[in-house]
Amino acid sequence: MKVIITENYDEMSKKAAEIIIDIVKNNPKAILGLATGSSPIGMYKNLAKAYESGEVSFKEVSSVNLDEYVGLTADHNQSYAYFMRDNLFNHIDIDLKNTNLPSGSAADTQAECDRYNALLETKKQDVQVLGLGSNGHIGFNEPNTPFGSVTQLVDLTESTIKDNSRLFSSIDEVPRQALSMGIKNIMNAKSILMVVSGKNKAEAVRGMVKGEITTALPASVLQLHPFVTIICDKDAASLL
Ligand code: F6R
Repeated sequence: MKVIITENYDEMSKKAAEIIIDIVKNNPKAILGLATGSSPIGMYKNLAKAYESGEVSFKEVSSVNLDEYVGLTADHNQSYAYFMRDNLFNHIDIDLKNTNLPSGSAADTQAECDRYNALLETKKQDVQVLGLGSNGHIGFNEPNTPFGSVTQLVDLTESTIKDNSRLFSSIDEVPRQALSMGIKNIMNAKSILMVVSGKNKAEAVRGMVKGEITTALPASVLQLHPFVTIICDKDAASLL
């Protein structure tokens, strides 16, 4: 596990974008595993800037996202499909046909999970971008999710619902369930790049990097992956 500590969110975002840009330059057909949330927004801004300046093209890149809320259609402004278009896809030359997320509005959620797992078999991520939940979740794999899990319907914990309520007008509007790539799907990526910032993540960062490997802190599983880079700002790293 390589841990890079940065001064602040901006430096974290810049360094993370440099890693993605290198991957895409070396392999223009790279498969990017992507995440939503506040953590990667700055990185996505830097990727858009690099595209605009002609430094990198995403024309042949494809993407698979970690998760999606259940019950929100792709055009709902809090859906992760909307988030990805708004924060990244609309600002680069990626072909939208090559972008993939689980559908939160599928009538048959199990069939949708099966579809996504089959897709992931054919699209092994060259890099999987992750954020970190304050409770140690990765994707929406909440504490006590088995490490062998694959894409499934998950119930969000109260702490995640509370964390995510900042983006909704009231906590009652936060969906209670999501479809999430499983821990096995994440660990299957060739490499992992986590971005994490803020004091509220410091405890989870310490457990992930230095604690025992336990399903009680899902991100601790990353200690078992051979190519993990964690870029965290000094607040998130304050307990290391
Ligand atoms: C998002 C995701 C989540 C977030 C995590 C951190 O697709 O899978 O695991 O990465 O909840 O969220 P932020 O970055 O908003 O603190």
